[in-house]
Amino acid sequence: MKNNLSNIKKSQYFLNKEECIAIPTETVYGLAGNAYSDKASLKIFKLKNRLKKNPLIVHYYDLKMLQRDCITNNHFKKLYNKLCPGPITFVLSLKKSSKISKFVTNNKKTLAVRFPSHPLTRRLLKSLKFPLAAPSANISTQISPISKSDVKEEFGTKVKFILDGGNSKIGMESTIISLIGKPSILRLGGIERYKLNKILGIKIKLSNPRSKITVPGQSKLHYSPGIPIILNCNNVKPDVAFILIKKRKKSFKNYFYLTKNKNLKQAAKNLYKTLRKIKNKKYKTIAVEKVPNSGFGEVINDRLKRASFKK
Ligand code: TXA
Ligand code: MG
Repeated sequence: MKNNLSNIKKSQYFLNKEECIAIPTETVYGLAGNAYSDKASLKIFKLKNRLKKNPLIVHYYDLKMLQRDCITNNHFKKLYNKLCPGPITFVLSLKKSSKISKFVTNNKKTLAVRFPSHPLTRRLLKSLKFPLAAPSANISTQISPISKSDVKEEFGTKVKFILDGGNSKIGMESTIISLIGKPSILRLGGIERYKLNKILGIKIKLSNPRSKITVPGQSKLHYSPGIPIILNCNNVKPDVAFILIKKRKKSFKNYFYLTKNKNLKQAAKNLYKTLRKIKNKKYKTIAVEKVPNSGFGEVINDRLKRASFKK
């Protein structure tokens, strides 16, 4: 507890100086900076080696704080009341009076916003005079980090400070929903689709990245361990890392299980950890068994498809 307090103070110190730090969230760790500061926002892009045209998600403590920057609507209020704080990101219209840096939005009039539930990050957000722009704390196109050591692996000493909040509970990025005009899902993630449909009482469509890439996060190569991935496999050679959803009776050293019991939420949580482990063991190819395409299985398949995309 005492430690947490001094770590929050350290975080405030760096953020107030327009520096970037890594913060824990329930989905993945974020690389955070003052969203009102051009200097801090530019540092995020530079550290991540991220294209400037790829806008950042901004993290808020609560609705009151958000209303300084964004126009809300009924769909938003319904989802906010039921799901926040939690693993969902909303794309909303920016207010003219907003102080959000133009680099965060890439000069656009929309903003992606989120209310993370991790208690340490909530305490930090509550204590600051500005919201935090925070993309996942990984080098662009690579695997998202779910612990302090993952962030270290990505950035070494280039990140000034990592606020340690343990392992991310969900281990998968937030679901992104655009609430400008007709609601549509831009990225599958921590909240299953059916829950959103139920709250809004409509069938929300999933925007298809193949037909139109609206944001780079929908681009084909992403979340990648930098090793070829082959999907829908049954058997593999011993030099290939084999990812399986559920533990098999007969096991080999190259088998990596996502769960003991086929719980897809658990499998999603273990995906990035497993990809990182395989990468560090220096395997040259990854094979994955077929993953059922329902609930969190849909999210896993989305990430695997992009991670396996060949340039
Ligand atoms: O769970 C998460 O969402 C994590 C944690 C740290 O909050 N953040 C995260 O950020 O995944 P990032 O930058 O890795 O992914 C954000 C995605 C990007 O694909 C970006 O293109 C999209 O959100 N995005 C940002 N602003 C947008 C906007 N105004 N309209 C549409 N998409 C946007
Ligand atoms: Mg990311």
